[in-house]
Amino acid sequence: MVEGLEGVVAASTRLSRVDGEAGRLTIAGYDVDDLAPQATFEEVAYLLLRGRLPDPPGLAAFSLDLASRRALPPIVHDVLRAAAADGTPPMDALRMGASLLSLGRTSEAHEDALTAIAAFPTIVGSYWRYRSGSPAVSIRPELRHAAHYLHQLTGDEPSSERTRALETYLNTVVDHGLNASTFAARVIVSTRSDVISAVTGAVGALKGPLHGGAPGPALDMVFEIGSADRAEEVIRAKLDRSERLMGFGHRVYRVRDPRADVLSHAAERFYNADGERGLYDLVREVEAIALRLLRERKPHRRLDTNVEFYTALLLHGLGLPAELFTPTFAVGRVAGWAAHCLEQMRDGKLIRPQSEYVGPIGLHYQVSSLKSEVLKSET
Ligand code: ACO
Repeated sequence: MVEGLEGVVAASTRLSRVDGEAGRLTIAGYDVDDLAPQATFEEVAYLLLRGRLPDPPGLAAFSLDLASRRALPPIVHDVLRAAAADGTPPMDALRMGASLLSLGRTSEAHEDALTAIAAFPTIVGSYWRYRSGSPAVSIRPELRHAAHYLHQLTGDEPSSERTRALETYLNTVVDHGLNASTFAARVIVSTRSDVISAVTGAVGALKGPLHGGAPGPALDMVFEIGSADRAEEVIRAKLDRSERLMGFGHRVYRVRDPRADVLSHAAERFYNADGERGLYDLVREVEAIALRLLRERKPHRRLDTNVEFYTALLLHGLGLPAELFTPTFAVGRVAGWAAHCLEQMRDGKLIRPQSEYVGPIGLHYQVSSLKSEVLKSET
């Protein structure tokens, strides 16, 4: 038995390859550092769903199709309003909204895949506006996917720099081998269930702090440190308390996560333009000290920076509150989940591993005298 299935290969995929020793991520043939900062999100979603980049007419038709699926059924807005009034965490609101996307439609896998990708930004954006006491904004079909998400959150049309920065982020996290949420999605459709059920389950898997929930705490640590001269003291104290440093360590990468580099460059460009360079520099210094202390404390472990550390910095720069970091991850990753579902449905077999039973055997059931009395009085 392999604890946590570490190192176990459980699916073949053409969607992405994670090389943990070399620190290299390939997305359907393209290195992440080549593809993510240049392509639009629509191009990357098309690449994952269709296996190649689109030509201009193909991209225009695909973008139009996605944009036509952005609006949510009214009942989804009702649920999101109720969730907002209740103070439901955004990932739970997204899970509720996602599950309702099958309402009023017959389930067809490709249709479900496109609908989920198109609707996630609207769900998160509308929910956040309700939480902030504002009405949802109308859909602007002419905006690019990333700009649509920012518009749904803020009600404003974002600048091209902001759109590009978010698009780079969404492309960077769009797919990543058989991570926990993608595995959950593939397990669900492997039973011949549907794509909406699978992406709903995947949202639940992504929510946990060991997977998609780390960037908020990573940024909290930077703010707690406040200035570079306090970094060593604060980080040492965390490690003394056996706390994990959020944004460091990875199940597959034994070197720096290549996505951290893509996001660090995107953040640097964005913070230079935005004039908040000081925060960027502080994050770089905190990273260097954290890595030094992790090497000192855990010399036998190869712990390095993961994607979440710079996610926090970039999304904070875009004005997103920490509560929206994980839902924004889902807005990007849903395209990967959807593509994995289609691949699993096309090529895959029911995923049903075995467990090793470690409980007692040979126990005998005995009816207690008290239970006999209760049964008698019931007859
Ligand atoms: N800080 C301090 N110590 C760490 C960290 C960390 N961030 N990560 C791992 N370790 C240590 C553990 O304490 C353990 O030490 P020990 O053997 O002395 O007890 C050892 O490294 C191995 O830890 P595991 O949990 O067995 O390693 P695993 O591969 O299962 O963990 C994980 C990977 C969950 C990402 C882990 O590194 C972690 O908790 N990181 C912090 C949370 C985080 O950043 N999550 C986002 C991951 S990226 C993503 O999902 C998109």
